[in-house]
Formats: sequence, structure tokens, C-alpha cells
Amino acid sequence: MAPGRSKLKLTKGSNTVWHHATVTRADRERLNGHRSVIIWFTGLSGSGKSTLAHAVEEGLYELNCRAFVFDGDNVRHGLCGDLGFSPHDREENIRRIGEMVKLFVEGGVIALTAFISPFAKDRRKVRELAGDGDFIEVYCRCPIEVCEQRDTKGLYRRARMGEIPEFTGISSPYEVPENPELVVATGETPLETCVDQVIAYLRQRGVITPVRHALP
Ligand code: ADX
Repeated sequence: MAPGRSKLKLTKGSNTVWHHATVTRADRERLNGHRSVIIWFTGLSGSGKSTLAHAVEEGLYELNCRAFVFDGDNVRHGLCGDLGFSPHDREENIRRIGEMVKLFVEGGVIALTAFISPFAKDRRKVRELAGDGDFIEVYCRCPIEVCEQRDTKGLYRRARMGEIPEFTGISSPYEVPENPELVVATGETPLETCVDQVIAYLRQRGVITPVRHALP
């Protein structure tokens, strides 16, 4: 077997070489005045992941930080438009997002993700890829009854009628995170309080400095 052949399964571009940038992540973090991390929001559909992620993004923007939200529904229109909701497709969805946000972290950005990411092993793989220190898992805890009552997209109703197969929480499992960095009770806590909890955690972890002033 030719040298490097065994790697073919892992990466088809086996004749490629990683190009090391001369402007480093540390340079970018210094320029930005904050660390870059992945804030991984996970929870049922309708649990408030996207709403919270966008509200935190807004809060960080006002604190003069570079942050960007990657949202499940949006990403599935493009980058992951070829994927469905089988366990295999969800795994691939999360793998792609993991690889993408890792690059954004190299770019100095606070990457916020809002994906159901129902399987613990898929979330763990992203954590391993990113490195423990760069991965902040935030469990958006919201009872399914509340998500179903909200049913903002009408998907629970359709799933109950059997129109949507493998719907998370109905006909496909959601594995509750065992050791997330943060649990936010999105089912019962006002949005601003949830945002404050996340921002406070980022200060405590030293991602943003304890006193970071808002934009003038
Ligand atoms: S994940 O499981 O692969 O992480 P992702 O977060 O990208 O899912 O997409 C979830 C969104 O897709 C939901 O908020 C919902 O709007 C929509 N959706 C469509 N079909 C399903 C399904 N079978 N299960 C869950 N969500 C679905």
C-alpha cells in the first residue's frame, strides 16, 4: 500500500498540507480583547436555543465583542442542505458544524451554535475536536410539554400526526447533557435573565474580562 494510503478514509485530500497562518489566534484574541470559544446551545426544538443564542450575540456585540450565531435551521438551507434527520445525518450535520466553528475560533470569534444536537456522542466529538477549554456546552432546559405548547413552527403538531418522521422528543430521542458547563432553564426564566447567566459565565471563565465596557 502506498504511504499515507490508510488515511484515505479519513480525508480524501490526503495530498494537502495544513497551511499555518502567520497571524495567530492569540494575535486575533489580543486584537479583539477577548478570548474565542464555542458556546454550544443544545436542547429540544422550540426550547429557545436560537432566541437565546441571538440575544447573547447581541449582548456581546454591545460589549464590543466579535460573536456570530450558527443556527440549525439556517445552516440546513445551505452547508447542510443535503442532510435529513436520521441519526447518521444528524451526526454528519454536527460534525460539519464542529469543523466549521473550530475554524471560526481560530479566527478569534466567539462562535455561538444553536443545534438540537440530540446525541451525546456527537456533542462529545465536537468537544474533543475543539478541546475542553474552548467548548462551553449550554443546555437549554425546557420541558417537551412547553416546547409542544409553544410549537412556533407547527412541527410538533405535524410530528404527532405522523407527518414528520424521527422528530426529536416525539419519535427520536434527545439525550440530556450529563455535565454541561451551564444549564439555563429556558422554559421558565425570562430571556434577559438567561442572557445574564451566559454572560456572567463568560466573565467567570475569563472569556471576556470582568469589566468590559459597552460600546459608546
Ligand atoms: S440536529 O438534530 O441535526 O441538531 P438541527 O438543529 O440541525 O437538528 O435542526 C433542527 C430544526 O430542524 C428544528 O428546529 C426544526 O425546525 C427542524 N426539523 C425538521 N425536521 C425535524 C426532525 N425530524 N427532528 C427535529 N427537528 C426537525
